[in-house]
Amino acid sequence: MIILAFESSCDETSAAVVEASGSGRRILSNIVASQIDIHKRFGGVVPEVAGRAHIEAIAKITHEALDTAGVGMGDVDIIGVTNTPGLIGALLVGVNYAKSLAFSYGKPIVAVNHLKGHVDAAYFASETLTPPFTALVVSGAHTSIMDVSTYTDFHEIGFTRDDAAGEAFDKAARVLGIPYPGGAEMDRLASLGDPTSIKLPSPAISGDCLEFSFSGLKTAVVNYVHNAKARGEEINREDVAASFTAKVTEAITEKLSAALTVTGSKRLVMAGGVAANSHLRAAVSDMCAEMGVEYFAPELSLCGDNAAMIALAAYYEYMDGNTADTSLNAKATGDD
Ligand code: KG4
Ligand code: ZN
Repeated sequence: MIILAFESSCDETSAAVVEASGSGRRILSNIVASQIDIHKRFGGVVPEVAGRAHIEAIAKITHEALDTAGVGMGDVDIIGVTNTPGLIGALLVGVNYAKSLAFSYGKPIVAVNHLKGHVDAAYFASETLTPPFTALVVSGAHTSIMDVSTYTDFHEIGFTRDDAAGEAFDKAARVLGIPYPGGAEMDRLASLGDPTSIKLPSPAISGDCLEFSFSGLKTAVVNYVHNAKARGEEINREDVAASFTAKVTEAITEKLSAALTVTGSKRLVMAGGVAANSHLRAAVSDMCAEMGVEYFAPELSLCGDNAAMIALAAYYEYMDGNTADTSLNAKATGDD
């Protein structure tokens, strides 16, 4: 089956063509047009600007995705699109474009939850991965621990009370003078610093719950940097990045280990933009080895937002009988 899919929930416009059948999954094309250069000067994503940039990019990247894959619209079996969660003005562009194509070419349209897409990116990495498993989506907008019981049934069992982990990475990076989005640069700097040099609070909420709060950690870094500057002290960015990353990594491994105990799952998937973090990947992989749990993560190029992951999620939804119709709408939050 050939799936054409779209992703436009935040600041990447993406179109992809994926071939899927049984356990076979092949990415024929995965075009991502990033808006980072547009949003950089604002220090973060400006929703209205994002929507306008999606409108400008989407037709061009659709042609590119079809051309690269060597398929025409006649070869496409289904069209998938992210319809929730995300920035509403951004989501609407993808949803409306996908619906128009589906209507014009008489193709079934499938709505995809962005978080399910992130998790499904891990299926490309390993043909042996099958549900059930426990998953963490850790990105610029989400920090969700999920109990994945089938290819389409996901139940959130852990979450953040405020900021997402990626948001905290980006804000900590910003105060260090690193341009948006600073997560990847924080990763690099952290390798050069001392993770024990600066005392910072843990983003893990204490107790049995599977909850995080990243805003306190973010504020602590901002205060540390501002206070040091006020005293005229030089800031060691490597030490700040390393100490910050260590706290994020410790909190995530602590709550993932608790989640695996609760679910009794012997498989863990970690996905989303922050899942590209080398320190986090190493720590979660070590934790899984200690617990006798199989660890899966998408390859680095599929951790961030892309439409190939949405195509695969659309395939599973379609196989489960979940198609939408031309009344399909976008929703900013994933809550039903
Ligand atoms: O999944 P994604 O592309 O978009 C959302 O759905 O939010 O994630 C983007 C986030 C940004 O906050 C970015 O700074 C972060 O992922 N990120 C990283 C790394 N690479 C990207 N954070 C930490 N370490 C990295 N290596
Ligand atoms: Zn995402």
